[in-house]
Amino acid sequence: MIGGSGFVGRLLGDFLQAEGYALRVLSRATQVKLPYPARAYRWQQDGTLPAAALADVDVVVNLAGASVAEGRWHRARRAEIVASRVQTTRAMVVALRQLSHQPVVVQAAAVGYYGERGDTELVESSAAGTGFLATTARQWEASLVDAGLDNRWVLLRFGMVLGNGGGALRMLGKIYRLGGGAALGSGKQYVSWVHSDDICGFVRQALQDRACHGVYNLTVPQAITYNTLHQALLRRFRPLFASPVRVPRWLLHLLLGEKATVVTSSQRVVPQRTLSTGYTFKFTEIDAALQSIQKF
Ligand SMILES: NC(=O)c1ccc[n+]([C@@H]2O[C@H](COP(=O)([O-])OP(=O)(O)OC[C@H]3O[C@@H](n4cnc5c(N)ncnc54)[C@H](OP(=O)(O)O)[C@@H]3O)[C@@H](O)[C@H]2O)c1
Repeated sequence: MIGGSGFVGRLLGDFLQAEGYALRVLSRATQVKLPYPARAYRWQQDGTLPAAALADVDVVVNLAGASVAEGRWHRARRAEIVASRVQTTRAMVVALRQLSHQPVVVQAAAVGYYGERGDTELVESSAAGTGFLATTARQWEASLVDAGLDNRWVLLRFGMVLGNGGGALRMLGKIYRLGGGAALGSGKQYVSWVHSDDICGFVRQALQDRACHGVYNLTVPQAITYNTLHQALLRRFRPLFASPVRVPRWLLHLLLGEKATVVTSSQRVVPQRTLSTGYTFKFTEIDAALQSIQKF
């Protein structure tokens, strides 16, 4: 696993080790702290993978990427957001080409690929959108897809991941508990979310099913609007008072710049190929998903 120390990586690693996988984690850290047993490897100074990390592995999971939610999107941060995905994936591809065997590749991607699309339903074959997130996502995917590897690869376009111990809920939980939760933008923008248990469940299925190959949207079958998410967060966190304020789109853009698109852009994603594999989502209702999460 590359990026196995992050929010999704910790949950997926824990799940995979319970499934019987012996894990290795490649990290930038000298001493990576993980909630599951794994052999740790470090990126080499020149940005390449140590050969030992991939020797004899059956699967490579690549989740690496600098957070798009942290920090302002100044030029250096944008460069880091792109490089931490594109360079990392390219380095993985170079290392995979040097192997005499062909591990299955599970690659993280994001629904940000689609850009701002209003209420249009978006399936895996829909075109990429425009803007920084969409352009980054397209380059990120291309670094794997255009490499022409013979390995079986599964590229997962994650929606907003809800799970224990991090992600969007870490921040939203704090804000809503304090009564600061507000409807953002028009509130009609679509949010495509996915529970971390469904990431684990679909990765397990994808590893077992050799016919599984290509791009898969990993989002609930029916995306919700931000207004619906807002109401569900109020039910989940029960603040002493609920802010009546709606923060308009223009103000978010004034305060955050293009980073505001993380919450204001609308992606009504449908996991068409994912459902066509026969996968059944464990969480499809936002209230049940939010109730299942206890650690933020
Ligand atoms: N969480 C979501 O809602 C969501 C939604 C859509 C897509 N995704 C994508 O899914 C992947 C996993 O998400 P996550 O929430 O688990 O991410 P995360 O916790 O923010 O980070 C994942 C890993 O990326 C590596 N990383 C961070 N900054 C880096 C940098 N500057 N250069 C190289 N590597 C860096 C870190 O590994 P080391 O420190 O061990 O090197 C980290 O553990 C990400 O690529 C993310 O873009 C996530």
